[in-house]
Amino acid sequence: GSAKLWGGRFSAATAASVEAFTASIHYDSRLYRYDIAGSKAHATMLADRGILSRQELADIIRGLSEIEAEIDAGTFRFRRELEDIHMNIEKSLVERIGPAGARLHSARSRNDQIALDLKMYLRDQCDIIGDLLAGVQTAFVVLARHYLGQVMPGYTHMQRAQPVLLSHHLLAYYEMFGRDRTRLVDCRRRMNLSPLGSAAMAGSGLPIDREQVAAALDFDGVTANSMDTVGDRDFAIEFVSCCTLIQLHLSRLSEELVLWSTEEFSFVDIADAFCTGSSIMPQKKNPDIPELIRGKSGRVVGSLISLITLVKGLPLTYNRDLQEDKEPVFDAVDTVAASLAIMAELLRNLRFKTERMAEATRHGCMTATDLADYLVVKGVPFREAHGIVGRTVAHCIEQGCELEDLTIEQLQQHSRLIEDDVFEVLRVEGSVNSRISIGGTGLRRVEEAVSLAEKQMGIA
Ligand code: ARG
Repeated sequence: GSAKLWGGRFSAATAASVEAFTASIHYDSRLYRYDIAGSKAHATMLADRGILSRQELADIIRGLSEIEAEIDAGTFRFRRELEDIHMNIEKSLVERIGPAGARLHSARSRNDQIALDLKMYLRDQCDIIGDLLAGVQTAFVVLARHYLGQVMPGYTHMQRAQPVLLSHHLLAYYEMFGRDRTRLVDCRRRMNLSPLGSAAMAGSGLPIDREQVAAALDFDGVTANSMDTVGDRDFAIEFVSCCTLIQLHLSRLSEELVLWSTEEFSFVDIADAFCTGSSIMPQKKNPDIPELIRGKSGRVVGSLISLITLVKGLPLTYNRDLQEDKEPVFDAVDTVAASLAIMAELLRNLRFKTERMAEATRHGCMTATDLADYLVVKGVPFREAHGIVGRTVAHCIEQGCELEDLTIEQLQQHSRLIEDDVFEVLRVEGSVNSRISIGGTGLRRVEEAVSLAEKQMGIA
């Protein structure tokens, strides 16, 4: 015989090495709250259906509440030989309340139970990470408002391209993290169907009420196919995909912060409290937070790869392989949550060197496109205008000057259509403010975008 909940058919005890190898309690204990809430809802339904007596239900609820309080307080003793969170809780319940505890698992399997716990956990994480994303978005809106009107070079291929407003650049991240939030909302909605009642894989012959349990646990409904349900980890993969995009967005932002805090760029100053020094070079102030966030994207991408590899080639339905889903999921949650929290703080302690940024827009003939557009307005086909301006830029490079330094006579050598009003177009401010197409960097548009974002974030 065996002390195990499944020990009946076994005549020998489990090898210690097997217990060590198969146990998941050291990480799935994180799910205890959901496991207990699920058990309470399940027991209540069983009692309503006459499968448990009222007294048994009362004992189960009391026992589970006790266990939860002990786990909360850190006094509950988890036992590795009981494998996982489900059996640790159930065994302890039976020890506390006797036979009633042994009735709890009617019409249930650990296969639908773990799907339930993980969905409930991830549902909450969608909300928690969504709030952390909102914190980062708010930090961007505050910066965008503060620096409204400041210009900087916009880049393509990391080459100076066109002057833009710093606030426009900042709001690009606001949009990216906003999409991440909506993805989590979608992911949550799709996962929010209760697996309980699918049992091991075929459903139950007992007169259960799956919809009652689903409603009690705030699900929008129940899953449709028991075999699909116990083998489905799409929801976890989708969630970690969302995490991956978040971490990639953070990583791109981090890359810019690292770059911008170099001596060569000097666009940004990260507060001392958010940098670290060098153990050998006394002059150093290193941007370790963005570097670590950038580095941690490897972990999150790794979690996604682990999960998709895990389900590749798995036959229906539940297979023990699926126990390997939890560590990557938890690591993705922890990494993304910590990265978002620290990034929001860092952003609130960021100072942009706006004079340096503005100065940088004065070099590199960044208003060349504006000159081409000017010629287009005068009737020149764009391709021809492109050629004219290209030759004008070559002229500047030869002279070591900028477009706005050329005299009107010099400009007219390249096109007779150029007149005195061209200088407005060649100025950085004129260039920026002309770009008032929807989504453009013109001050009027960016001002609107900041106001809208403030409204969306419930500030100002
Ligand atoms: N600890 C398991 C998991 O994480 C729970 C389900 C185990 N079911 C089973 N029949 N062994 O997937």
